[in-house]
Amino acid sequence: MQSPKKIIITIDGWSSCGKSTLAKQLAKALDYVYIDSGAMYRAITLYFLRNHVDWTKQKKVEEALSEIVLEFIYNPQSKQSEIHLNGENVEYVIRDLVIAEKVSDIAAIKSVRETAVAQQHKIGRRKGIVMDGRDIGTVVFPKAELKIFMTADNAIRVERRFKELFEKNPNITLEEVKANLEMRDYIDSHREVSPLRKADDAIVLDNSHLSIKQQLDIALKWAKDKINNQK
Ligand code: DC
Repeated sequence: MQSPKKIIITIDGWSSCGKSTLAKQLAKALDYVYIDSGAMYRAITLYFLRNHVDWTKQKKVEEALSEIVLEFIYNPQSKQSEIHLNGENVEYVIRDLVIAEKVSDIAAIKSVRETAVAQQHKIGRRKGIVMDGRDIGTVVFPKAELKIFMTADNAIRVERRFKELFEKNPNITLEEVKANLEMRDYIDSHREVSPLRKADDAIVLDNSHLSIKQQLDIALKWAKDKINNQK
């Protein structure tokens, strides 16, 4: 019997509504590759901060981008692809609030997006991927077979992200996390280039009151329906 054709699954949505948790589990269940597009913007931000790049100057941004190599490399220990910036594994440092405070500004720059999207297209050529982000279903893979748009109540999202960051940094406050989420959501959805919005053909998944297992079961059913109905 022929093995079923692989598809592209996109997961977009607001900050901290569980996109990456769902995307990772979905990829695992389907034996697909998970790609965290936000990690690319975070790694570029890390490079800009470390190298004091003045991102208000187009020329400086372009020079810096030409020096950046991003790769996703599978780590058998964590059992996931981790992002490397010029050969260094930065998967964990990019999760810091210092990066989160600047990433939306940098992700709004046209040439930064062009660089990231070109790489996302390359990765998507082989299909069998689950990619999460803000513009994956609208701009990066507008023909993806399954598009999910995730959302959750604001207070629930803040609480979830706070718990996650508090484990690493007990000095963090709920107010800081709330302000950061609100700021990122605003910038991500109001920027000129590829703003966050639901693709017309995306299915909404509101996980405010769903367990991780429940959301996976729902999304897995959608994915299997699409895979089995492939022409
Ligand atoms: O998913 P995340 O929180 O790691 O993403 C970090 C930031 O990167 C987010 O605030 C907006 C930006 N981003 C984007 O503009 N487009 C994407 N496809 C993914 C992330």
